[in-house]
Formats: sequence, structure tokens, C-alpha cells
Amino acid sequence: MKNLLTVLTAFALLGLVACEGPAGPAGKDGATGKDGAAGKDAGFVYFDGFKTDLKCATCHVPDNDTALFMAARGNEYESAGHMEGTAWARGLNSTTCASCHITEGYMEMAKGNFASQATKTYQNGTQPGCFTCHSPHAKGDFSVRKTDAINVKSFVAGVPDLSFNVGTSNTCVTCHRTRETSPMTASVFVNGVSGNPDPTKTAATDSIEIKTNRFYPHYGVQGQILMGKGGFEFAGYTYPSSFHTTMAGSKTIDCQDCHMATPVVVVANKIVAGGHSLKIGYSSVSTDSANNMVNVAGCRASGCHPSSFTANTVTSTVFSQFKQSGQKALQDSMASLKTLLVAKGWLDAATDLAKASSTKPLVIKPAYKAGALFNYFFLEHEGSHGMHNMQYAQALLNASLAELRK
Ligand code: HEC
Ligand code: HEC
Ligand code: HEC
Ligand code: HEC
Ligand code: HEC
Repeated sequence: MKNLLTVLTAFALLGLVACEGPAGPAGKDGATGKDGAAGKDAGFVYFDGFKTDLKCATCHVPDNDTALFMAARGNEYESAGHMEGTAWARGLNSTTCASCHITEGYMEMAKGNFASQATKTYQNGTQPGCFTCHSPHAKGDFSVRKTDAINVKSFVAGVPDLSFNVGTSNTCVTCHRTRETSPMTASVFVNGVSGNPDPTKTAATDSIEIKTNRFYPHYGVQGQILMGKGGFEFAGYTYPSSFHTTMAGSKTIDCQDCHMATPVVVVANKIVAGGHSLKIGYSSVSTDSANNMVNVAGCRASGCHPSSFTANTVTSTVFSQFKQSGQKALQDSMASLKTLLVAKGWLDAATDLAKASSTKPLVIKPAYKAGALFNYFFLEHEGSHGMHNMQYAQALLNASLAELRK
């Protein structure tokens, strides 16, 4: 009986299913859910966290991540020296190099507001990326990370540190500055005492002993030269600066005005200058041959050099004609200085480094003349062939040459 009932019920149910009519229309969407807790929507923390009420979709758009031109900036940035160069790998497994060479070490330095450099060792690291200059998640926009003053340590005795304060350029100079912990000082002895080259040590008996072939505080001296500082200033000469310095002083020119000019320049389907490529010089022929063109889009800004440059980019011939009395003269002076330094046995022509080591120190008397060697490296490393501050560059060279010829 029980079994029969079960069977009948089963048939009834089957019958019901078989007789079911068409499905009704879908119900209404439910009410929008509550916003998640401030800054915790993502459920994870990315680099320096998320700003309260940050809307991810302002920048990250499903299917097409180009809002705020992110993907476009990324393409440009692929061409930047930061990405193309290999020096970033120096930041791996190194406590002292991570700060400026990899994003991870940079984040550590940023947390201390750049007062000292990174101290941790990073096994895995990445090139300086979007999150070095920007802090989009913590700030919710694309302003740059550091806009207040940054200290640039001096490596000339008696000269105070430079407080560099030129708007968005401050972010660039968090890395493009001397190294706080440069090994230079520890390997240089003035009259037997560890220290920096000194313009006042002019007596015949004053000596400087250099025990490193790297007689310089590191490569990024652009902030210094832009401000007309950082070179070895021999006493008795004047050191004027170019108009670029006047503008930087009044915060009317930034690194980005020249280095991130728009529009971007495209050669062989690759961005070679302008925008986030950070580049000015480029090759019109291919993407890897020597530079023969200059992107002057930034130079042509209103009130700057508009009448001299008729196109956004000019050939180096036109550019060097414009700079005939400047860049050409500077290059000649640099060549003369190199010849003199090599002849004195202070500079190794093959390596382009000081002819010195811990076992074979270079001793120079009177000590102050070593300033010529210091200036040679300073001007080589500023990277613009004087363009950043032509007058200061030439003045340093003139003084160095005159002192070496004495
Ligand atoms: C102000 C713009 C902005 C906002 C708003 C924003 N992001 Fe980002 N986010 C970026 C940028 C820029 C990058 C780096 C993009 C790249 O590398 O191509 C990035 C990268 C990321 C990455 C790493 C992806 C990768 O490719 O490495 C994650 C994950 C991420 N964001 C999550 C979020 C989340 C979650 C939110 C919301 C809580 C959010 N973002 C809001 C700008 C933003
Ligand atoms: C995280 C530190 C860091 C920041 C911030 C930074 N740079 Fe750099 N920059 C470097 C390093 C390191 C290199 C060398 C890369 C290489 O050769 O592999 C470099 C290289 C460059 C180069 C190419 C130099 C060459 O010899 O090819 C340019 C141009 C440049 N930076 C401009 C800028 C500008 C402009 C800014 C600011 C908008 C900036 N950088 C911010 C670390 C930084
Ligand atoms: C204060 C930031 C900073 C620190 C710390 C730092 N660097 Fe650099 N380094 C830079 C910048 C900026 C450049 C690129 C300068 C340029 O191209 O004008 C650079 C360039 C270089 C280059 C490329 C030079 C060239 O012309 O090819 C090498 C190699 C290098 N650094 C090695 C190191 C090593 C090794 C350490 C650690 C012992 C170190 N750096 C620490 C900022 C730094
Ligand atoms: C070397 C430093 C540096 C790096 C790295 C960098 N930016 Fe920028 N970016 C800047 C500067 C400087 C500005 C102009 C900011 C200003 O004027 O306040 C800027 C502006 C922007 C803007 C605003 C629009 C514009 O172009 O003016 C966006 C979007 C942007 N960056 C995205 C990115 C993304 C995405 C990445 C990574 C692929 C990135 N940036 C990497 C320096 C950098
Ligand atoms: C007045 C315009 C101007 C300003 C401002 C400026 N630069 Fe330059 N910079 C140049 C020019 C021009 C060159 C030479 C470009 C070339 O030969 O490719 C150059 C070269 C460089 C180089 C070497 C590039 C290479 O490819 O070898 C670096 C690195 C650099 N600048 C960084 C900076 C930084 C960092 C700042 C801000 C502190 C800055 N510059 C400010 C115009 C400028």
C-alpha cells in the first residue's frame, strides 16, 4: 500500500512537471549593496594602501584599461631609460643600491620621506615603475609623490647640502641626486683625514689621497647642475648660471617640461621621445642607432625658444647651430680637460675612471687641483652636454683648465 502510494505520488509529480507552463519573466534587480568599508574594498593592500572611498573603476575600467590614459602612458614608458636600461638590476640583493634602482627599495626610502636610503635586501625587484613617481592608490590621482624639498648631500668640503625645491622635479631628484652613503668620502683622504675634495687646500704640501676609481658621489647630478650647484668651485672665479636656473629657481620650469614634452615622437612604430618616454634626444633612423635628432617641443614653450625652432623636432645640425657658442665650446673644453687629466696620469683613458685603487692610491698635491677631476665626472654625469645649465658647466670647465695649466 505504502509502495503504491509512493509510485502514485511519483507519477503525479511527473505529471505536474510535464504540465508546467512557460517560465515567468525574470524578477527585478535587488537594491544596490552597501559600499564596503573605507579602503578595504579590495580585500588586500597594494603598495602604499588605498585612499578612503577610492573608486577602482575611475582608473581600472573592465575590458579597456585606458581611462586616464594609463595604457598609453605605459606604452610611452616602455621607451624610458628606466625600462630600457639595465642598471635597475643593480638594486637586487643590495642594501645600498635598492633605493633608486628598484621600486621595492624606493618604496622603503619613500616611507622615510627620503631622508635616508633603503636598508633592506630585495631578492626580487622591478624597474622604477608607475608607483615610484605616482602614488595613485593612496592619493587617488596622478600627482607625483614628492613635491616638497629634497636634500641633496654635498661632496665638496665647505659647501652645504642643497635643498632642492623645484615642484614636480623634486620627485625626479629623490633618485637623481648624490648617494647619501656614497663610498667616495670613505676612500678619500685630505691631509690624511677622511673627507671630500677641498677648494681651500691650496698649499704645496696639502695632499689628497684617492683610493677609489670612482671619485664621484654617483651619477644623478641633474638636480644640482640645474640649480648651479654641486661642482668643485675653485676660488677666484665666478660661476654664473643659465636662464634655465633662473626659471628653476622661480619654479617655472620642471624636469618634465623638457623631458616629458608633448606630442610624443614616433619612429619605426615606437615612441622615441616625449611624454612618459622621458626622452629628448632620439634617432630618426631607427630605435637603436645613435641619436641624431632633438625633440624641442618642450623648448618651444611659450616665452622660451619659440622663434628659433620652427618645428617640434629639429636635426642636431640645426640644434647645434643654435647652441654653437655653447654646446660645441663645452664639448671642446671637455675634450681638452680629458687630455690634460690623462696626461697627468689621473684619469684612465680606457675606463674613463680615476686611475686609483685601494692598493694603488692616486695622490695629488696641492690637494685642491683634484677638483678638476671631480668636475670632469660631474659634467660627464649630468648627461645633457651642458644643456641643463650651460654657463655653470662652462665656468667649471674654464676654471678647471686654467688651474691644471698653472
Ligand atoms: C588614480 C587611478 C587609480 C585608481 C583609482 C586605482 N588604481 Fe589600481 N593602479 C593604478 C595604476 C596607474 C596602476 C599601474 C598600472 C600598470 O602598471 O599598468 C595600478 C595597478 C593596480 C594593480 C596592479 C595591477 C598590475 O598590473 O600590476 C592592482 C591589483 C590595482 N591597481 C588594484 C586597484 C584597486 C583594487 C583599486 C580600487 C580600490 C584601484 N586599483 C584603484 C591606478 C589606479
Ligand atoms: C626610482 C628612482 C628614479 C626616479 C624617481 C627617477 N629616475 Fe630617472 N633614472 C633612474 C635610474 C636608476 C636611471 C638609470 C637607468 C639605467 O641606465 O638603467 C635613470 C635614468 C633616467 C634617464 C635616462 C638616462 C640615460 O642615461 O639614458 C632619464 C632621461 C631620466 N632618468 C629622467 C628622469 C626624470 C625626468 C624623472 C622625473 C620625472 C626621473 N628620471 C625620476 C632613477 C630614477
Ligand atoms: C640616490 C639614488 C641612487 C642610489 C642609492 C644608487 N644609484 Fe645608481 N644611479 C642613480 C641614478 C639616478 C642613475 C642614472 C643617472 C643618469 O643616467 O643620469 C644611476 C645610474 C647607475 C648606473 C649606470 C651608470 C651608467 O652611466 O651606465 C650604475 C651602474 C649604477 N647606478 C650603480 C649603482 C650601484 C652599484 C649602487 C649601489 C652601490 C647605486 N647605483 C646606488 C641613482 C642611485
Ligand atoms: C619618472 C616619473 C614617472 C613615472 C615612472 C610615471 N609617471 Fe606618470 N607622470 C609623471 C609626471 C611628472 C606627470 C605630470 C604630473 C604633474 O604635472 O603633476 C605624470 C602624469 C601622469 C598622468 C596624468 C596625465 C598626463 O600625462 O599628464 C597619468 C595618467 C600618468 N602619469 C600615468 C602613469 C602611468 C600609468 C605610469 C606607469 C606606466 C606612469 N605614469 C609612470 C611622472 C612619471
Ligand atoms: C631646460 C630643459 C631641461 C630641463 C629643465 C631638464 N633637462 Fe635633462 N636634459 C635636457 C637636454 C636638452 C638633455 C640632452 C638630451 C639628449 O642629448 O638626448 C638632457 C639630458 C638629461 C639626462 C641624460 C639623458 C640621456 O639620455 O643621456 C638626464 C638623466 C636628465 N637630463 C635628467 C633631468 C632631470 C632629472 C631634470 C630635473 C632635475 C632635468 N633633466 C631637467 C634638458 C632639460
